[in-house]
This record gives sequence, structure tokens and C-alpha cells, in this order.
Amino acid sequence: MSLGMRGEIRQFQSMFDDARYDGRMPYRRCGDSGLLLPAISLGCWHNFGGVDNFEEARRMLHRAFDRGVTHFDLANNYGPPPGSAEENVGRILVSDFVCHRDELIISTKAGHDMWRGPYGMNGSRKHLLSSLDQSLKRLRLNYVDIFYSHCPDPETRLEETMSALATAVHSGKALYVGLSKYPLKRLKKAVKILSEMGIRCLIYQPPYSILQREYESSGILEWLADEGLGCITFSPLAQGMLTPKYFEDIPENSRAANPDGFLKTEQVITQQEKIRALGDLAAAHGMSLQHLAMRWALRSNKVTSTIIGARTVSQLNDTLDALDGPALDNALLEAIDAIAPAK
Ligand SMILES: NC(=O)c1ccc[n+]([C@@H]2O[C@H](COP(=O)([O-])OP(=O)(O)OC[C@H]3O[C@@H](n4cnc5c(N)ncnc54)[C@H](OP(=O)(O)O)[C@@H]3O)[C@@H](O)[C@H]2O)c1
Repeated sequence: MSLGMRGEIRQFQSMFDDARYDGRMPYRRCGDSGLLLPAISLGCWHNFGGVDNFEEARRMLHRAFDRGVTHFDLANNYGPPPGSAEENVGRILVSDFVCHRDELIISTKAGHDMWRGPYGMNGSRKHLLSSLDQSLKRLRLNYVDIFYSHCPDPETRLEETMSALATAVHSGKALYVGLSKYPLKRLKKAVKILSEMGIRCLIYQPPYSILQREYESSGILEWLADEGLGCITFSPLAQGMLTPKYFEDIPENSRAANPDGFLKTEQVITQQEKIRALGDLAAAHGMSLQHLAMRWALRSNKVTSTIIGARTVSQLNDTLDALDGPALDNALLEAIDAIAPAK
């Protein structure tokens, strides 16, 4: 069984008519496209894989959706094992969200290592289009809303990678396409090639947080805004480093302590002094470090949405509550710059 086609009204029921939705989520226009995205999106990189708690993953998708998070971000390789996050989310979509397909923006990506052998990674047409077919099967969808080239591949001509994205749209398997982590020069060239193929790049996905500001310094955010492209940033909590958990040590159930986690202990130790200083600053302004980090990540209208991760429903609720606070004032922004300057 797979989820219905676009516009199929079988059992359609809008979440926004439902008393469960509290109306607190702002929606921002994705560049100059027709698509609105929630200011906060939910990613399934960690905590949705075969090694994770399936029922908690299900509760998180429900809670997120009930709070207006209409965008779930995936990639072929999310797990572990690779592919299992798409499988789990696919199971949940088909069992619980069948009447909400037209209210959900689901993205996936291809490019990083996925399967063994010469076609399991990088930017060839062979990899991208085979991977998209596999993702649709795992997600039990007829189409994804956004299909990304996950990372630049300097060994493949951009024309080839972009032609695979164009085919994804022309075949109806993706509504829009995006690019992730391309450096500015390559990004500009890729967007131009796509446009010559009649496809508008919808969105760009870079990492961006108080602790990771190199994409801000590169001028990419300004260029995207000038070109009318959307920007969806990821890891606004720096994989959990912008929360109080690492003030003193590495707690047992944290990502840094998890052998399957992408965050390494050494990264935390290198940043610990800054993390504590940012924690003190947040406390002096009456907010938690995670709320400071979220308000900072969303302070600019050059950012359409930011993709968070969560391990539990309680973390998800807490992070989403950042939307309720006031915007950060200039003095506070300057104090943040003094601790963690843009490089
Ligand atoms: N395009 C790309 O190459 C790329 C790369 C990376 C990520 N992404 C996308 O971005 C998404 C988010 O990445 P991320 O998971 O690194 O985001 P993040 O929001 O920076 O970190 C999420 C982690 O922080 C901790 N956390 C979250 N909320 C918390 C709270 N309120 N209190 C205490 N701890 C909290 C949890 O880790 P603990 O387990 O330590 O509690 C959680 O798993 C991914 O799922 C993926 O969709 C894309």
C-alpha cells in the first residue's frame, strides 16, 4: 500500500480545522515560489532509524504535525541502518497520515554514501534517479515534495547531476528540487544550469547555528535572497551542543555519547567554553540556551525555515516553544557575536 496521489480526497481532513492545532506556527514563503514552509521543520537524520524507539518516533511526527510542523526532512541514508528512517517514516505516513498527504511537505536527498558499489553515491544520474525510486518505495509515496542533491560531487559534471534533478520533476516523482551544502560558486552554476533546463531550484540547505556560521560569512544567504531562492538551514542546536546538556560533561543518553551519533566528543570539548558562555548569556536574559539558539537561527528573513532534530516528544515541544518568545535585540545579538563570531 502507498499513500494516495496528489489531490486524492479519500478521507481528506485538514489538520488546520482540528482543535488540536494551536495556531502558533508561522509560515514563511520559500523565496519567490508559491510554497510556504513552517518556520521550524523536523528532520529524521537521527532518532528515526532501525536502532531507535519506533513508538517515540511516531509520537514525535504526530506532535510536530499537531503543532503545525508540516515539513519532514529525510535523506536516503538516514538511519542507521541507511534507509531505515525512510522505512519507519513511510510506515507511519501510511498508517497515520493517509488523509494528510496534501498538507505535508516531505523531502529526501541522494548523494552521500548509500549502498556499496560504484552507483551507491555521488552525483551521477544513475545514483540520483535509482536512489529516488528506492526512497519512494521506502517512504511508500508516489512523489516527494522536494528532492535534493545532498552534496556537491566535484567529479561529476554539474550538467549531469542537474539533469537528474530535472528528470525527477518531469517524471512527477518530485514537485521541486533543492541543493545542499554546495559552495557559492558551484551553487550559482547549478542554479543556472537547472534554469536552462526549465527547472527553478526551490531551496538551498546549509548547516547554520551560532556555532557554525561559515555559510553566513560566505555571502550565500544574501545571494539566495537576491535570487528569490528559499533557504532552509539545518542543525540550529548544533546537534544538541546549544542546550545545557554539555555544560559539565557528556551525558549518557546524548548524541555525543551514542556510538551511532554523528557528534563526536572532541567536537563538544572544543566548543565547551563557548557553550557555557552562551548558556550564561541566555540565563542572564531569562531564556534557555536552546531558545536563544532557535531565536538566533530564525532571526533573519533570509532563512525560510530551520530543520531541528529531537530524540523525544518533550525535547520537540521544548524546542518549538522557542517560537513564543520575543525576537533577540541588537545588544544581545552583539553579545552572541562576541562569544561566537562569524568567521
Ligand atoms: N543536508 C544535510 O547534509 C544535513 C546534515 C545534517 C542534518 N540535516 C537535517 O537537519 C536535521 C536536524 O539536524 P540535527 O538533528 O543535528 O538538529 P539539531 O536540532 O541541531 O540537534 C538535534 C539534537 O539536539 C538535542 N535536542 C534537541 N532538542 C533539545 C532540547 N529541547 N533539549 C535538549 N536537547 C535537545 C537532541 O540530541 P540528544 O540525543 O543529545 O538529546 C537532538 O537529537 C536532520 O534531521 C536532517 O533532516 C541535513
